[in-house]
Amino acid sequence: MADSLAFNKIAGAALATGLVIFGLQNLMPVIFHQEPPAKPGYAIAVQVSTGGGAAPADVMPDWGTVLPKADVAHGQAITAKCASCHDFDAAGTNAIGPGLYGVVGRPPGTHPGYSYDQAMQDFAKTHKAWTYDLLYQFLKAPGQFMPGTKMTFVGLPESQDRIDVIAYLRSNGSPNYPIPPAKPAAPAAASDAAAPAANATAPANATAGK
Ligand code: HEC
Repeated sequence: MADSLAFNKIAGAALATGLVIFGLQNLMPVIFHQEPPAKPGYAIAVQVSTGGGAAPADVMPDWGTVLPKADVAHGQAITAKCASCHDFDAAGTNAIGPGLYGVVGRPPGTHPGYSYDQAMQDFAKTHKAWTYDLLYQFLKAPGQFMPGTKMTFVGLPESQDRIDVIAYLRSNGSPNYPIPPAKPAAPAAASDAAAPAANATAPANATAGK
């Protein structure tokens, strides 16, 4: 009798467990029913990170749009960071680094009288000119973009800072280097996304410029 009671208890427990599992299985879809809408949320998070300029993959600015709007005076102010190594005068004076007058559009590693290192000479073999895109990437983190360069400058992480510096560099000796036409306005959603991104970088610049 005792044995059969024990059996009943065990059987009951097993049945109860089975019921709980069965119940959970049926509840799962209910509990996770909210999951699919989470995916658009991830997509938005990705957009936010590219807008902040911190994304690992660089998205090149639309130069036809950003250059005419760039703050040249702010760019010039930032080049105080370059002045310990570079001169910007029209005579093209070389210092620790080459003279930077007219550097936009200039073939890399070719400023007269300056002795470039191997990294820059190799770079010059495959790149005909300092385009906006190349300057934008180089100035972000010179040693990362061009391993081995003797330009031991940490770089300008803020996208808008680089845009303003490039606008200043262009104004300083390369005013005729063409600005490509602005890309036609993409779908409304894209321009909506670009507007807050541009606004978001503005306060960051104000702080960085101090
Ligand atoms: C610590 C010194 C140092 C600082 C600071 C520095 N540079 Fe340089 N820069 C160099 C050196 C050295 C080279 C030559 C690199 C080589 O030969 O690889 C160079 C090369 C360059 C070149 C390539 C020029 C050419 O003729 O091909 C550009 C463009 C440039 N620098 C821009 C800048 C800008 C803009 C800043 C400031 C935001 C800056 N650099 C800050 C040392 C510096």
